Amino acid sequence: MENTAFDVVVVGSGAAGLALALQLPTGLRVAVLSKADTSAGSTSWAQGGIAAVLHERDSVQAHIDDTLEAGAGLCHEPAVRFTIEHSRQVVDWLIAQGLDFDLRQDQLDAEFREFHLTMEGGHSFRRILHAADKTGSAISAVLNERVAERDNIVVMTDRSAVDLITDEQGVRGIYVLNEHTANVDALKARAVALATGGASKAYLYTSNPDGATGDGIALAWRAGCRVANLEFNQFHPTCLYSPETRTYLLTEALRGEGATLHLPTGERFMPRYDERAELAPRDIVARAIDNEMKRYGLDCVYLDATHKTEEELAAHFPGVLERCREAGLDLANERVPVVPAAHYTCGGVVVDQHGAADLPGLYVIGETACTGLHGANRMASNSLLECFVYASSAARHMTENLRIQGDPAVPPWDDSRVRVSDEAVVIQHNWQSLRRLMWDYVGIVRTNRRLKRAANRLRVLSDEIDDYYSSFTITPPLLELRNLTQVAELMVTCAKQRKESRGLHYNSDFPATSQHPEDTVLVPSNSWVDHRSLPTYEGVGG
Ligand code: FUM
Repeated sequence: MENTAFDVVVVGSGAAGLALALQLPTGLRVAVLSKADTSAGSTSWAQGGIAAVLHERDSVQAHIDDTLEAGAGLCHEPAVRFTIEHSRQVVDWLIAQGLDFDLRQDQLDAEFREFHLTMEGGHSFRRILHAADKTGSAISAVLNERVAERDNIVVMTDRSAVDLITDEQGVRGIYVLNEHTANVDALKARAVALATGGASKAYLYTSNPDGATGDGIALAWRAGCRVANLEFNQFHPTCLYSPETRTYLLTEALRGEGATLHLPTGERFMPRYDERAELAPRDIVARAIDNEMKRYGLDCVYLDATHKTEEELAAHFPGVLERCREAGLDLANERVPVVPAAHYTCGGVVVDQHGAADLPGLYVIGETACTGLHGANRMASNSLLECFVYASSAARHMTENLRIQGDPAVPPWDDSRVRVSDEAVVIQHNWQSLRRLMWDYVGIVRTNRRLKRAANRLRVLSDEIDDYYSSFTITPPLLELRNLTQVAELMVTCAKQRKESRGLHYNSDFPATSQHPEDTVLVPSNSWVDHRSLPTYEGVGG
């Protein structure tokens, strides 16, 4: 049994988690926990890049305005301003860590080459810094290298967070399942940061890696933190349609560089939906594709990037080109089939500008958090920016506010479960049920009836999972399923509460957009905030 005390435990080893760990003082003892290896999360899969104001005619205000517009009236303006005002600082920090962003190809002879800035939906300027179409894996590699140089940071792989340890003062640590020993260890900490990514694996088709199971959101909710805006799960419009292989993202930068969307007849349809056509915000493009597919009974639509030569595609989009080739498709010479897939969780745990959640000592950053930046629809490439801005502000705040503690009495994990685990097949079945259910009932277009049915079914699923959880040996798949089912319930509760259509949430029973935008905030029954005047949702997990 590992029973170790740290100053800070960071759960998650993506951009947000590693950037936070690196910005904490070297005098603090920091643990970074990862469910698998440290590059298995969503960061490594990010293709597009990081949005920053660098174009000579661009401005912080223009980036703010675009973000507010994409967020459909629900962004918190101070959070948007705070994030975007720090974009230049983030770029400088990443370069200092050793990241090489792509430079302009047309300036090969120039003494100082500028960054190549690409374009994505909703942006009114070229503003996306990138490392070809592998920006995320480049970031992950550099941050992992820097972390490996630090003596004060311990990286623990194959660890699944079970639950936060709390007392009346706040967070005291975390219970963690160690796959190497099959034990649950109690790690003490003066502060805990959750940076576990989003919950898009709740959907049958997703651009995300397997670990996107909403762990941090579920942990924070169970520990008494508010969550908000979970009805806004973003569907990326263009994922490669390939029934035999797993869903693969075809970066929006392809459309930024001129690729277009077509029906099987060859008709280009996006101009019928929005004057920005393929570069409208994602909610609009995904809904248009969904509509065309339903209207004509199509399995997919087609993305045309044939205006680019093979050499041009190989320079900017080597990963996508290769993946299409593996699927037997020639991106340079033919249209390729695409469908929308679940991509990003815009809502999450309610935090302030320091990433601090309701529970004292708990910080939540990256996709796990709801900072107010994304509102009802995240604008492309704002999320990596958010990871780094909030990692810095959380590191600062944590350092200044680490509560002095004695040695808290952290109880060891009480595992009085029956030590059997013949439930694997049933757990697998429940995984399938959950993801199919969310895809069919809580997808791009929703109705009251479907949401009600989804809520009923999720309750049954959740009861069954609680039963396994309290009776059987806990395993990583069971922990993930428990978390994801809980977050799915929260998503449906949020969706049922919103009596309008806005951004990523479209309910055909409430097609209009209210004149009074409001967040959907859920308050758990064990909330740390004074919520006497607010409704609670005791029905959701716990
Ligand atoms: O299309 C993309 O490359 C995705 C970018 C993002 O989600 O920010």
